[in-house]
Amino acid sequence: MRQAKRIMHLPPYLFAEIDRKIAEKRKAGVDVISLGIGDPVEPTPPHIVETLREAVKDPENHRYPSYYGLQAFREAIASWYGKRFGVELDPDTEVLPLIGSKEGIAHIPLALLDSGTYSLVPDPAYPVYSTGTILANGESHFMPLVRENDFLPDLSMVGSDIVRKAKVLFLNYPNNPTGAIAPEDFLIDCVEFARKNGIAVCYDNPYSEITFDGYVAPSFLQTPGAKEVGVEFHSLSKTYNMTGWRIGWVVGNSGIIDALGKVKTNVDSGIFNAIQYAGITALAGSQDCVKEMCKIYERRRDLVIETLSGVGIEAVKPKAAIYVWAMVPGGYSSAEFATHVLEKAGVVVSPGNAYGPSGEGYIRISLSVKDNRLKEALERIKESL
Ligand code: MLT
Repeated sequence: MRQAKRIMHLPPYLFAEIDRKIAEKRKAGVDVISLGIGDPVEPTPPHIVETLREAVKDPENHRYPSYYGLQAFREAIASWYGKRFGVELDPDTEVLPLIGSKEGIAHIPLALLDSGTYSLVPDPAYPVYSTGTILANGESHFMPLVRENDFLPDLSMVGSDIVRKAKVLFLNYPNNPTGAIAPEDFLIDCVEFARKNGIAVCYDNPYSEITFDGYVAPSFLQTPGAKEVGVEFHSLSKTYNMTGWRIGWVVGNSGIIDALGKVKTNVDSGIFNAIQYAGITALAGSQDCVKEMCKIYERRRDLVIETLSGVGIEAVKPKAAIYVWAMVPGGYSSAEFATHVLEKAGVVVSPGNAYGPSGEGYIRISLSVKDNRLKEALERIKESL
């Protein structure tokens, strides 16, 4: 059967491909250690699980949830933004729960783009910014993130013809895959750029709570004027080890949220209420579990940086997120080195070029693996060299 053109243009999803390779190797008897996807191995904290367990028992929660999320969950999100970032949000118009932030990011181009219009997409980046754009029949303009510019896009390099047609600017700090962070003046410039050119900023902030060395990550919405031009996507996935629960949200500009809500009410039927109650517990309960996870990731980050530097592999020491962005040793391309590590060490890493052409020359190592397996993976990589 002939597939739609937009599907023919859609690359296979990076982690679905990686999963396929892992399954093949495991079938062949290889003890594969995956440093591929960022998927916390530690369990969701018990107080959050307990809320779900109780909520599941209530038959009221077995019915369709509200399209716009439980009022109590929207209020919990607004109140967390107030406490954590000092950002005031109207839970009725400026907060919309999502079935994981990936769902909202994939759908936002449908709400904001027409054919012939553009998303400005960082390169390298989380693949969903550009694939969501393809699904909406839009075009992506890639903005290189290079080490010399601290992995921040240079907005002045986007040509005026593209700027005129651009409707969306995707940004993501703490950054996946580079681990870079955004300084305040950069965010101020982004708001000004978006305001001047009538572009909606879609700021993806799922790693704001996973920070190291005393660094505290901001919300984009703390930037003066941000709410007039943009929204922020967030998620419980990485903060509370809840990737499998599929729960996140978008907050900020009410017009953009209204447009995304129109797409979503026609596409999905909301989030299981029991999961939303668990989300309230996550946001309103003790945050000690988050501090604990930051310590764990910081320890793993240090181990990776130290081991790689011992074998001459240079890596930027990230202040946040759960990845190390490392330069591949001379003579290898990203894909060749990822293949070498898989074939010779049974270790999966993500090739940098899978996040965009400017990722060539790098690999991404995820810290979401138990310490002993991480140590073993690093030992195996060392030996393979
Ligand atoms: C990643 O590894 O980049 C993320 O876990 C993917 C995601 O958040 O969907």
